[in-house]
Amino acid sequence: MFQKSRYVAQILLTALLLFPLISFANVPPPPAEQTLGLLDAVFNDLNEQQCRECHGPSVSDLHHTLASDEKLDCMSCHSLQSVDGSFRLVFTTNCLDCHEQQPGESSVHHLSATAQAGDCVACHDSLVQNRDDGHYIPSYAATMVTPLPSNGAGPDGRGSCQFCHDGGTDETTGELIFSNMQTHHETGFDQCAWCHNAQSATALAIRPCEQCHAPLSIHNIQVDTNGDGIITPGGEAAYFGHIGSNDDCLGCHGGFTETTTITGTRGRINNPTRHHLLIRTKDKKCLDCHTLVLNEDDLFVFEDFRVCRNCHGGHRQ
Ligand code: HEC
Ligand code: HEC
Ligand code: HEC
Ligand code: HEC
Ligand code: HEC
Ligand code: HEC
Ligand code: HEC
Ligand code: HEC
Ligand code: HEC
Ligand code: HEC
Repeated sequence: MFQKSRYVAQILLTALLLFPLISFANVPPPPAEQTLGLLDAVFNDLNEQQCRECHGPSVSDLHHTLASDEKLDCMSCHSLQSVDGSFRLVFTTNCLDCHEQQPGESSVHHLSATAQAGDCVACHDSLVQNRDDGHYIPSYAATMVTPLPSNGAGPDGRGSCQFCHDGGTDETTGELIFSNMQTHHETGFDQCAWCHNAQSATALAIRPCEQCHAPLSIHNIQVDTNGDGIITPGGEAAYFGHIGSNDDCLGCHGGFTETTTITGTRGRINNPTRHHLLIRTKDKKCLDCHTLVLNEDDLFVFEDFRVCRNCHGGHRQ
């Protein structure tokens, strides 16, 4: 556990070193800003040098701690060779002589037993959730604010992940950013059902993605853009995460157009839609009605938005 956080810390450090002079200007995506997490790229064709960029210049202590913890014999990693009649330990230092990657197919990491077992959180931490941890995924019908994976129907393609996360060149670093299909498919996982469900209606194509990107993790991804040490939903610069600004909400949820009207059964307008049409007619913001509060785990969750009197005082039921 300790070592895991050390790597994550190392990587965060790398990220910080890469971006010493971050300026929080609103550069419209895509691609998305790259301050948090990993570069949204494909890493299955790395060389030793690139491994060391994340794991540090020497992996000697790492392996020798492991060797003593697990009582491994020196010869399980080194070999004896005869040089001029005397034997010497030979040190293989190229990671890839001992760790397998499948270039163009899968990285060392995604071939690990942890990844193959579907435990993404072990390395990706709270940016995602595990498929089998019993987390909440909505089951209500699609509405005018339901996000799509790609091709959002709103202005400029708002209303989907792809509105911000798509292939291109990162402005700050000049690094190449890949499409969501590439970053996910080139992990080499071949269990399609981990991420797709051929049975889902098109309007609900986001639900299988929520096996790992459910409301709880999604609404907690945000950079503190004004550096005051706290994340203020709606109070940060736009396009540095998911909850900093009403424009971020609209990136995923804004797939509606001027003419959108959704009615419930028997032509009666349903209650979510009644309220959501006020976004257009009265220029309401999502956070005017939906309040994000911190729960006991210090994660943002929405206050109950189903009970009329929470917002309308005692007048409505
Ligand atoms: C309004 C723009 C926007 C939209 C739309 C959007 N994101 Fe993001 N997302 C961001 C930004 C900005 C970051 C932070 C990236 C960074 O700093 O590295 C981010 C980060 C993430 C991360 C953390 C890993 C990483 O690369 O930093 C995940 C996971 C993620 N988004 C998933 C999604 C999913 C799933 C969707 C669609 C349901 C989506 N995003 C739609 C802007 C957006
Ligand atoms: C972008 C940064 C990055 C790069 C590049 C990178 N690693 Fe990693 N590596 C990580 C992180 C983060 C973890 C997860 C930390 C953990 O599980 O302890 C990890 C974990 C590992 C693990 C443990 C896997 C397991 O079963 O838990 C091995 C082995 C490994 N890396 C080898 C390599 C090799 C070999 C290369 C080069 C081909 C490489 N790494 C390149 C970041 C990186
Ligand atoms: C789990 C695999 C593993 C085991 C077991 C292991 N080593 Fe290593 N050792 C390595 C790796 C990998 C390197 C190369 C480190 C690098 O290049 O950053 C290394 C490097 C070395 C070096 C070169 C100097 C240095 O520290 O970089 C010496 C000496 C060494 N090992 C001795 C030993 C001895 C003695 C044992 C048994 C007590 C042992 N090793 C067990 C993986 C292992
Ligand atoms: C001589 C063989 C050998 C070399 C060279 C080697 N490793 Fe390893 N490494 C191992 C073995 C064996 C293990 C333990 C089993 C495993 O996790 O695959 C290990 C484990 C690891 C782990 C997991 C450590 C943990 O605490 O679980 C990481 C990370 C790692 N290696 C990274 C690297 C990187 C990066 C390089 C190159 C700079 C490298 N290794 C070179 C043999 C090697
Ligand atoms: C052993 C640690 C480890 C595990 C477990 C792991 N990953 Fe990764 N993942 C990494 C590392 C390190 C990188 C960056 C280097 C690479 O691709 O190997 C990465 C990169 C990625 C990327 C591309 C980077 C990005 O921002 O888009 C995706 C997508 C991804 N992983 C998905 C998954 C999924 C899905 C799972 C679970 C089924 C998973 N990973 C489990 C360590 C891990
Ligand atoms: C780790 C998650 C993951 C896995 C596993 C995965 N995909 Fe995908 N796939 C994605 C993502 C993310 C996209 C991009 C979706 C988008 O932008 O609409 C995508 C896009 C696609 C697309 C094109 C867009 C669409 O949804 O019609 C097809 C076809 C597809 N995947 C098929 C497969 C098949 C077949 C498998 C199994 C061999 C598979 N995928 C495994 C994540 C995954
Ligand atoms: C099995 C788990 C899993 C599923 C299901 C999944 N993803 Fe991801 N997704 C990840 C991981 C892991 C990352 C990398 C987070 C990081 O950067 O550390 C990621 C990152 C992302 C990001 C942020 C950009 C990036 O590449 O880092 C987007 C956007 C995204 N996923 C979209 C999707 C979409 C769309 C679907 C459904 C088609 C989907 N994901 C299904 C695990 C998953
Ligand atoms: C990265 C994409 C993304 C962004 C940005 C985003 N959301 Fe969401 N949100 C989702 C997804 C996905 C769901 C689940 C939708 C579904 O399955 O019907 C969701 C669900 C919700 C729900 C319903 C939660 C429940 O309990 O069912 C509310 C309310 C909501 N979002 C409000 C917001 C607000 C307000 C913002 C801006 C502060 C925002 N969202 C930003 C992706 C996003
Ligand atoms: C004028 C107030 C208001 C505004 C503005 C508003 N909502 Fe809602 N929203 C509600 C109410 C009330 C409900 C629940 C209605 C019910 O269940 O009876 C709701 C329900 C939802 C749901 C669940 C959908 C369902 O079918 O149950 C999501 C997702 C959601 N809102 C997201 C958003 C997003 C994203 C925005 C901004 C684009 C937004 N809302 C703006 C009042 C509002
Ligand atoms: C999450 C907060 C919230 C909840 C819960 C909520 N409302 Fe509202 N509702 C609002 C807001 C804000 C307005 C807009 C007030 C204004 O015009 O400024 C509104 C407006 C309305 C309107 C007028 C719509 C229009 O077209 O002008 C009706 C009717 C209404 N709500 C009924 C209900 C009923 C019935 C419930 C419970 C089933 C409910 N609301 C639950 C926040 C909420």
